[in-house]
Amino acid sequence: MCGIVGYIGPRDLKEVLMDGLSKLEYRGYDSAGIAYNSEGKLNIVKTKGRLKELAEIVRIEGRTEGGIGHTRWATHGEPSYVNSHPHTNSAGDIAVVHNGIIENFSKLKEWLEAKGVAFKSETDTEVVAHLINHFYEGDLFTATQKAVTMVEGSYALGVISPKHPNQIVAVKKDSPLIIGVGDGENFIASDIPAILEYTRNVYLLEDGEIALLTQDSVEIFDEFGAKVKRDIFHVDWDVSAAQKGGFEHFMIKEIHEQPKAVKDTLMPRIENGRRAMEELGLTEALVKKINKIHVVACGTAYHSGMIGKYIIERMARIPVEVTVASEFRYMDPILSPDDLMIVVSQSGETADTIAAIREAQKQGLQVVAITNVLGSTISRISDKVIYTHAGPEIAVASTKAYITQVLCFYMLCLELSLKGGKIAENEYDHYVAELIAVPDKIVELLDSKDIIQKIAYKQFNQPSVFFLGRGLDYAISLEASLKLKEISYIHSEAYAAGELKHGTIALIENNTLVVANCTQSEVYEKTVSNIKEVKARGAYVIGVAFESRTDAAKHMDDVIYLPEACDFVAPLLAIVPLQLFAYYMSVEKGCDVDKPRNLAKSVTVE
Ligand code: F6R
Repeated sequence: MCGIVGYIGPRDLKEVLMDGLSKLEYRGYDSAGIAYNSEGKLNIVKTKGRLKELAEIVRIEGRTEGGIGHTRWATHGEPSYVNSHPHTNSAGDIAVVHNGIIENFSKLKEWLEAKGVAFKSETDTEVVAHLINHFYEGDLFTATQKAVTMVEGSYALGVISPKHPNQIVAVKKDSPLIIGVGDGENFIASDIPAILEYTRNVYLLEDGEIALLTQDSVEIFDEFGAKVKRDIFHVDWDVSAAQKGGFEHFMIKEIHEQPKAVKDTLMPRIENGRRAMEELGLTEALVKKINKIHVVACGTAYHSGMIGKYIIERMARIPVEVTVASEFRYMDPILSPDDLMIVVSQSGETADTIAAIREAQKQGLQVVAITNVLGSTISRISDKVIYTHAGPEIAVASTKAYITQVLCFYMLCLELSLKGGKIAENEYDHYVAELIAVPDKIVELLDSKDIIQKIAYKQFNQPSVFFLGRGLDYAISLEASLKLKEISYIHSEAYAAGELKHGTIALIENNTLVVANCTQSEVYEKTVSNIKEVKARGAYVIGVAFESRTDAAKHMDDVIYLPEACDFVAPLLAIVPLQLFAYYMSVEKGCDVDKPRNLAKSVTVE
């Protein structure tokens, strides 16, 4: 949700800002802009549209000092030139970029208007520029410090003024912001990839903190104005992890990274006889005390929780409730201190998930986070963290993060089952061996991606697709359906196969596309019956089944075969061709695969 970058130092400012914004464009891409100080003047260039449109009009001439940039995902006011960031005060000598939502902006706007301030845009952000101006008495830092005391909501801010050419003021509250520390240069950014090319040394700002950056110094203060001593966080990822590396899109690159992501997440936890989730310190007594597990997450991460529910309830026999985070806090959940909360979030910054954690902690629950981002808000506020080692995920549609989230649920499930006395050591070892075999099987699936491409080529004009399955196959269908709709804009729904006939089957007509997941032996015959029901009404059925299902081709028009594995781990395999299916459908339709319309990668507003 909006990307911020800022730079102060000797490099080519345009290059640093535009390069940083290009790494943050996944956060929002309906408009973009930059502001910079040059020879005593504030210059602003901004435009509606993608970053490439900004790149066409940005010319920076003269000697430059600090600059800030922004890529927007609109919340207040349509995407337009005036609503694009940076925003300024009336005199045009204070510029602000913002990620988040100012909740009391109407009140602040009225207050400022009563003092004679005229607003140019419909954004909530503009109030911040005017507020800073209101408090300005010759010191930009102090004025910003005072301004934010009036602001309610979430904000990561970058502020500059030509009156203080060698300064950037940065503030963070409930929206991500990091500071990159260089030698004679400093940076701010919403996310690490934006500055990785220039420095690996980073300060992770905490909520309520405000920082003053100059070319040679970074000072951080807490919300009470006390100076904070922060350790440098050294980023050790490979820069190439955030680049396309020869693939046409980030999404297809990230789909191909899944064998590695699974290995990186799994192997360090089971090597040398170590048990899967030792980091959680789950003892038999603790496991036996768990009354219920609440999984709370959004979107794809929520779907990983659905897999978690099916496997944990079945194997560990602990009740699991899965709730979308935006509902959790407002539904007055019934929680007991013996319940455990598991939140799942790739970014670790999703506003609804953060709110759910706070609600659960208020009620005395321990919160375990499954997240991909070290140092993210969710990793910091949760009681325990299980990291998915998927590496940076850039495509808006999540793939490798999802598969590693699902994998974490498997490891957790095995740990809970063993410690809870529900499976024996040898069964545990059997399932771990099945998990270890998953990466090679994913490689096999990726090697035959042409089959999926051909299927997509035949189907990309479909107006609507239904994904069916029972049990774990239903949980996979939920994610497969979301993947398809978000990047190809084809309407799609996931249905528990046995439920379709209770109404939705009315939508099945000649040539309606149905994707049936048939990996679970226990319900295979039942799903085949449901396939027959839709075929009798003219549906074209693509099935997903294990290779040993030699009868599958009799019931389905196309079959996507999976390498043999036990049913338990099927979701880790079945999702791969379905991600490829969504990808190729999107490519055939000519959609913007990595940046689908209306979406953003990190949803930091409620
Ligand atoms: C879809 C997708 C989203 C995210 C959701 C939660 O492909 O990526 O549905 O899963 O916005 O985001 P995180 O996992 O960052 O909390």
